[in-house]
Amino acid sequence: MTEVVVVDSPDSASALAAELILSKVRTKPALRLGVATGATPVSLYRQMAVLAKQFGIDLGELQAYALDEYVGLEPGSPQSFRHFLEEHFIEVLGLDPNCLVVPSGDVATIATAGDHFEKAILDTGGIDCQILGIGSNGHIGFNEPGSSLGSRTRVKTLTENTRRDNGAYFSQPEDVPVHCISQGIGTILEARSLVMLAFGDKKAEAVASAVEGPISASCPASAIQLHPHATVILDEGAASRL
Ligand code: GLP
Repeated sequence: MTEVVVVDSPDSASALAAELILSKVRTKPALRLGVATGATPVSLYRQMAVLAKQFGIDLGELQAYALDEYVGLEPGSPQSFRHFLEEHFIEVLGLDPNCLVVPSGDVATIATAGDHFEKAILDTGGIDCQILGIGSNGHIGFNEPGSSLGSRTRVKTLTENTRRDNGAYFSQPEDVPVHCISQGIGTILEARSLVMLAFGDKKAEAVASAVEGPISASCPASAIQLHPHATVILDEGAASRL
């Protein structure tokens, strides 16, 4: 079941998502959290830090699994999703960097990186709660339109639309890698719960297709309708086409 919550601002949405996630940490301190990159979850991570401090919630046992990574960036590249998550999630929440597992985008080992990441998730018992943003073309993780709804972590080719959207993080738009490694839609759907956040009019059409459209590979985010525990938290802009 998909529960859709519309609030007045991105800050209120982030605060609500932070409360939801921290309530899970209270009942399970070693929560396995799937973490997303992009501008959308940045304030969620900040709000989690504020609330955890305010209510004395210990995050020391949290484990985190990234949704995706670019393929072929230099190790330690500031544009990598590992770097993004170290800065906006690990540092903000004061966590041990070793709690974060990111699919490897190293070309030398890319042939086995997907299986390796899937095994890491399985070995710890699966992801409890997956945070998701949504791309303006309806992608989740880096599952671009056309991705199989049963897909597992694997290498994908980014669309021009997504490379353009993510160009702001690179000094030149053509520096955005062409390939990525992403949890598959099947992988994402195995998380015990999903929390999707979307803000602004730019996401309104993708959100409407995801929540109210047919379940179809042409809008990968529509797969969340198949999940028994999916919560979608929107500001008014993102909800404007519902
Ligand atoms: C990237 C990530 C997605 C994210 C999307 C939206 O493509 N792979 O996980 O949801 O961007 O990003 P933003 O939140 O910046 O709009």
